[in-house]
Amino acid sequence: MSTPLNPDPSNYPELAAAAGQWRYQPAANCLAGRTILVTGAGEGIGAALARTCALAGANVVLLGRNRGKLESVFDWIGEHTHTSAVIVPCDLEALREENVSALHDAIAENYGRLDGLVHNASLLGAMTPIEFYPANTWEQVLRVNTTAPFLLTRGLLPLLNAGHPASIIFTSSGVGRAARAFWGAYAVSKYAIEGLTAVLADELRQTSQIVVTSLNPGGTRTAMRAKAYPAENPATLPTPEAHMDLYLYLLANTPRSAHGARLSARDWPGPA
Ligand SMILES: NC(=O)c1ccc[n+]([C@@H]2O[C@H](COP(=O)([O-])OP(=O)(O)OC[C@H]3O[C@@H](n4cnc5c(N)ncnc54)[C@H](OP(=O)(O)O)[C@@H]3O)[C@@H](O)[C@H]2O)c1
Repeated sequence: MSTPLNPDPSNYPELAAAAGQWRYQPAANCLAGRTILVTGAGEGIGAALARTCALAGANVVLLGRNRGKLESVFDWIGEHTHTSAVIVPCDLEALREENVSALHDAIAENYGRLDGLVHNASLLGAMTPIEFYPANTWEQVLRVNTTAPFLLTRGLLPLLNAGHPASIIFTSSGVGRAARAFWGAYAVSKYAIEGLTAVLADELRQTSQIVVTSLNPGGTRTAMRAKAYPAENPATLPTPEAHMDLYLYLLANTPRSAHGARLSARDWPGPA
């Protein structure tokens, strides 16, 4: 029987507090030797995921816009784990095919493999009726939330599809599954992410060991949530760390039963 992941409260109190309520108990080394790329790894859910994956043994590729935030996650990983993280400063709004190609080559050279790709970064954009939605914000949100995940997925598929199980997690939202007024380009971008998940899952079903899912974290205590709901008391919301059991379950086990699934972190019942 393997030792369960047991976060040290003095290193990472939020993870230690959340782990007691997890619906799945990951093994301490469940991601040992794996390489996981997390977008938006400098803050919020992405930062929690990057640190958690490193604690579970993964080498994490930390992609994000703000170098300072990425460096703080990188430093924490260096101090508290024996894994080998790397920082990729990148504004996803400006991502082009040649950037993804260079990223592919760098991951291949440094790690020789990619086991998980978590599309987590997103922009909220404007909370405005479609009638008044600024066109430039629309373009920006769709580039970051939808086009960049497409480009990254397409360019990194050869590394994920290299004869070992792998996981692609697209981050969705409640407003990408049921329409809600005033959520504008953000909601549309998440509907598109659900579509991308479904099409890709269907394409890979018979031909690949990649498990593709969409994951809605649900209301979570982060800066984005505070921006969308400024009057809400953040203490009433789960922390990002509360959802790490579901992320680790998908990344560590690559369960075929989850392929194509639309998962919700807040009401996930645990492994079937
Ligand atoms: N929190 C919730 O209640 C909630 C609910 C449903 C879905 N979600 C989804 O969960 C995911 C994580 O959200 P969060 O709440 O953790 O948000 P967050 O705290 O605002 O973090 C978003 C991350 O995305 C990065 N990002 C934004 N624009 C970028 C760009 N152009 N290029 C590169 N990185 C960029 C940010 O980087 P910088 O820090 O460098 O700006 C940041 O690290 C998102 O996909 C969101 O839609 C969240």
